[in-house]
Amino acid sequence: MKPFPKKIICIGAGYVGGPTMAVIADRCPEIEVTVVDLNADRIAAWNSAQLPVYEPGLAAVVGRARGRNLFFIGQGDGAKKMAEADLVFISVNTPTKTEGEGAGKASDLRYVESCAQFISEHARGHTIVVEKSTMPVRAADTIKRILAQNSHGGSFEVLSNPEFLAEGTAIRDLEAPDRVLIGGERPEPIEALASVYRRWVPAERIITTGLWSAELAKLAANAFLAQRVSSINALSALCEVTGAHVDEVARVVGSDSRIGPKFLKASVGFGGSCFKKDILSLVYLCEFHGVPEAAAYWQQVIELNEWQKRRFADQIIRQLGAAKGKVAVLGLAFKKDTNDFRESAALDICRQLLAAGLEVVSYDPRVDFAAFCQSAGIARGMQPAHTVREALSGASAVAVLTEWEEFRSIDWASMSLVPNAVIYDGRNILDPEMIRRANLLLHSIGGRDSD
Ligand SMILES: NC(=O)c1ccc[n+]([C@@H]2O[C@H](COP(=O)([O-])OP(=O)(O)OC[C@H]3O[C@@H](n4cnc5c(N)ncnc54)[C@H](O)[C@@H]3O)[C@@H](O)[C@H]2O)c1
Repeated sequence: MKPFPKKIICIGAGYVGGPTMAVIADRCPEIEVTVVDLNADRIAAWNSAQLPVYEPGLAAVVGRARGRNLFFIGQGDGAKKMAEADLVFISVNTPTKTEGEGAGKASDLRYVESCAQFISEHARGHTIVVEKSTMPVRAADTIKRILAQNSHGGSFEVLSNPEFLAEGTAIRDLEAPDRVLIGGERPEPIEALASVYRRWVPAERIITTGLWSAELAKLAANAFLAQRVSSINALSALCEVTGAHVDEVARVVGSDSRIGPKFLKASVGFGGSCFKKDILSLVYLCEFHGVPEAAAYWQQVIELNEWQKRRFADQIIRQLGAAKGKVAVLGLAFKKDTNDFRESAALDICRQLLAAGLEVVSYDPRVDFAAFCQSAGIARGMQPAHTVREALSGASAVAVLTEWEEFRSIDWASMSLVPNAVIYDGRNILDPEMIRRANLLLHSIGGRDSD
């Protein structure tokens, strides 16, 4: 086995595969990094000036490495590259299964399995296969079984190297990660992958574990993060009926060094492609392995999140009552600094507002409106606005659903909302004083109305 990989392939050019490989290529100019995807449009976009993923800093990293030692190619050209690769990352989607055993909870591994099949057919010699996608614990067994079917005497090692980047800060997270996790069964392949990361990540931040611990640790980390959001959101509801303010409670709780301040911001609920599906996967694993009590515990993190979104939309619907009226939705992305709206709170809330007969106008600086409506199953009733001002014009209620910086500094007094319009701050980012001065009412999550 070569001590230091020279040729890397990544299957999957999505929110993880694209940025991750761009940073590896940028930091390791002597390694050839090729990213393969069966979505030809996505590959074309990665090779253009309009990258398919919006992330601060990404364009600069891609700009430095693309065409030098970073290449984006279609699946057809991937077979030849696969034969030359020392190390292959699998970075494809692992969504929740929609049919069959475990539907609605278990991870759908069909894309991972087809990658394993592709590797098994085209890899030559000795190849390290790395799970970059988030997998259920013991998924590597499935990959190993498929790889073992190869007919040309190839040998394989499987590692788990789950990704911990957060969208919106992906480049920062990749360039200076809290930790890199490598799980494996033998030291040599672990060392080969660690040698790549050590080019820019301090050795003490590279954690090595067994294969199964690494697979489970990624699910556990996401479950813990989501659990904190649901915990503070559960308290937000109690704050609203008792006069406590959740931001004050969170500040006190988070200043305990055993707890820490991060992920204690009350909000309209967590979104994104990972938290819900990873917790559902954990719930399924608990059930499958005979620990239903643990399954019920984690399931509740999701239930609370769904309730928080419903509760927020219900408040708007109740306020507008029979008069109906227009609601301006500010933010469709699941968080700021990304164009990703998968599982965003806006999907559920817009659907609920429309179902109640309200007129919805939305503005988001990065999200593609048509793609959002298609994904939400919204055929009519929702209109796009190109600016905040346009969205707010004539609105009886405003729902701030993403914490985009530009929403913090809206000059409310200069907007033409209807008198007594209520601003529902689903991210607790607005300055109550600015709202008050504009003679508008503020409803913050876990706060007192208009405080
Ligand atoms: N998005 C995140 O913030 C994040 C963070 C950490 C981990 N993860 C995990 O990383 C994995 C990928 O997530 P993502 O957000 O990048 O997904 P994504 O949907 O953005 O990208 C996946 C890509 O894989 C491609 N693909 C699927 N099957 C393929 C195949 N057989 N051959 C070639 N290409 C194929 C798809 O066309 C798509 O472009 C998931 O398991 C996810 O849970 C995601």
